[in-house]
Order: sequence, then C-alpha cells, then structure tokens
Amino acid sequence: MTVSLEQLRRCSVAVDLGAARTRVYLKRFGVIVDAPSAVAVNTRSGALIAVGAPAERMVGRTPEHIRVVRPVAGGTVVDIDMARRMLRALLGDRLRRAWRRRPTLRAAVCVPHGAEPLARRAAVETLTGLGARRVELVDGLIAAAVGSGLPVTEPEATMIVLCGASTSHTAVLSLGSIVAAETVPVGGEVIDRAVVQHLRSHHELLLPGQAVHPLHLAMSVAPAGRSEAEVYGRDVTTGRFRTVSVDTDDVRAALRPPLTSLVDAIRGVLRQCQPDLVADLADRGITLVGGSAALPGLDTMLRQATGMPVRVAEQPAVCAVEGLGAMLEGRVRPLHRDPLGR
Ligand SMILES: Nc1ncnc2c1ncn2[C@@H]1O[C@H](COP(=O)(O)OP(=O)(O)OP(=O)(O)O)[C@@H](O)[C@H]1O
Ligand SMILES: [Mg+2]
Repeated sequence: MTVSLEQLRRCSVAVDLGAARTRVYLKRFGVIVDAPSAVAVNTRSGALIAVGAPAERMVGRTPEHIRVVRPVAGGTVVDIDMARRMLRALLGDRLRRAWRRRPTLRAAVCVPHGAEPLARRAAVETLTGLGARRVELVDGLIAAAVGSGLPVTEPEATMIVLCGASTSHTAVLSLGSIVAAETVPVGGEVIDRAVVQHLRSHHELLLPGQAVHPLHLAMSVAPAGRSEAEVYGRDVTTGRFRTVSVDTDDVRAALRPPLTSLVDAIRGVLRQCQPDLVADLADRGITLVGGSAALPGLDTMLRQATGMPVRVAEQPAVCAVEGLGAMLEGRVRPLHRDPLGR
C-alpha cells in the first residue's frame, strides 16, 4: 500500500508506536504525546492502573495482581487491545476534542520498513478501534528522513540509519524513494542487554535498567584508551549492593557483536547502490536518527567503521513523528513527483 502526500494532508493525527515510546502529533499543535509504551493492568479485574511513565516505573516492582504490558514489540503492535487502551489514556480529553471537531478523523501511522501485512493491519486496527475513519501507513524510514531535515525529495542520495529500541533500519533514499535498505534486530534494548549480561557474567552484578546509560557515557569518554568506570549494582549470589570497577574496554568488546551487525547492514546497503549515489553520500554522509542515535560514541564508531561523515540529527528520537507531522501540515512539497505515491 502506498500513500500520497495529498492523502496525508487530510490526516489530523500522526502516531508513531514504538517498542520503547509512543509519540503522537496533532495537526496544528505538534507533538502532544511522547511517553513510554507501557500499560499497567490489574490482572484480577482487568482495570487499567497506569499508562506511560508511571506504568514503566512499576516494571520489576509490581505485586502479583499487577502486570505491566508492552503492547508494541519490534516496532509492531502485538496487543491491539492494550495499544488502544494505552493511546486512549495517553490522549485523554485531547482525543475526544479532536474527534468532536472532526468526526471523520483520519490518522497517519508509522510502520517499520518492510513490515509484514499482519503488522500493517494491526497498526490500522489499533487506530480504527479508536474511531479513525481512515488510516494511512507511512514507512518509518521516510518519515524519519523527512523529520531529520534531509532533502528526501531531491534527486540526490541521502543515507539514514534509524536506531530504535529493538531494531535498526538503514537506507539510501533518492527522489523520495528508498533505493536500498536493510534491517537488523539491534537497538538500544539489545545494547543495554549486552552491557547487563557482561556485568552479570564477568562481575556477578545485577544492574537496574536505569544504571546502563551512565555506563554508556563512561565508555565514550575514553574511546581509545583503557579506562575504569564505577558501577553500583546487586551481587548475584549474596543479593547485597556493591560497587565494582569495570574496564570500559571490556564493555566495548561485549558490544562488538551487535554493533558489527549494524555496520554490516550499512555496508550491505552501500553495496546495493550505484556508484553515482555512493559518490553523493561521500559528501553528505550518514544521518543517525531514532532514540538510540543518542548512544554516546555511536557516531564516532560508525565514522571509523565506514570512513564516511556521520551526523546525529537534532532531536533524533522524535524525527519519525515530526516527519509525519510535516507531511500532515503540508510542509513537504514534491519537487518532481509525489515522493510517496506511485
Ligand atoms: N541518551 C541516550 N543514550 C543511549 N540510549 C538512549 C538515549 N536515549 C534513548 N536511548 C535509547 O533509545 C531507545 C528508544 O529509542 P526510540 O524512541 O527510537 O524507540 P522506539 O521508537 O520506541 O523503538 P522501535 O522504533 O525500535 O520500536 C531505548 O532503547 C533507549 O534506551
Ligand atoms: Mg521507532
């Protein structure tokens, strides 16, 4: 299914349902929701207890009768009912007001590049269940490229690497279309898990999720030489909290397998492109988008591995939803033809 810019201009709301975060753009208002994709439910009564950040804070701290559900996995809706309840709660009154103003409301939704028909249908059903009369699906790579400010509609090649929570997509675009693309199951969650597993197996330390980001930072401070970082966690056997000194070089080595598959995907995409396109890319380089683009040192690592300029987009996490928003507002003008229509 392809969608034209004309059809997107008729939409009033744009949704980016991610494994980690849900983002909603309302026409003329901008991004009105940017919250963790999490719902806490009472398993006895089925009642909704919390959504978004409060639900995420409950992970690992819930009594038996409360379950925290993540309705999106791998970039696709896996629990349509929970995804609807989450969106309804996150939007609250704003959804009702938007519906009242426009009873024939149309919605645009980002889907991961190469999403299966079932995943596309789940995205459509989630929004139609909330009352949308029509749902337009947009490739997340194109939305993110538009949101990062790349000249996607021009006859010149641009390269984008979208690093999400569970997957990363990389593509070369020209004239509003994807020339070549690859997807790898590597994202922020995979990278965090590699750090947690390293600490568990080499230091017998259990790390709470929020302790991983400061460690990323420590690793990027001395990218070349060996350095130590103090990490506070719970001992696997005694259950007591203790601090260990971690060699950041060893952590970097633990991250090598997932990061190597990301680099391989980039090289694979470049191999599929004509020499003229690759020549364009030598100047413009790679634009990093997605929440994990903010991973300290990722840009440097990719620059060294590919020999190409690498820049992190401004506000990389919201590029996809902002790109959808730009299409809704009619800020994306086709130069030669409608970039999304065929
Ligand atoms: N400053 C940061 N440093 C390192 N990682 C970060 C930072 N900010 C966000 N992340 C990571 O980015 C990921 C979330 O990215 P994003 O918001 O693009 O995910 P998503 O769109 O929900 O996921 P997906 O598109 O894969 O379904 C999380 O794994 C988070 O740990
Ligand atoms: Mg995403």
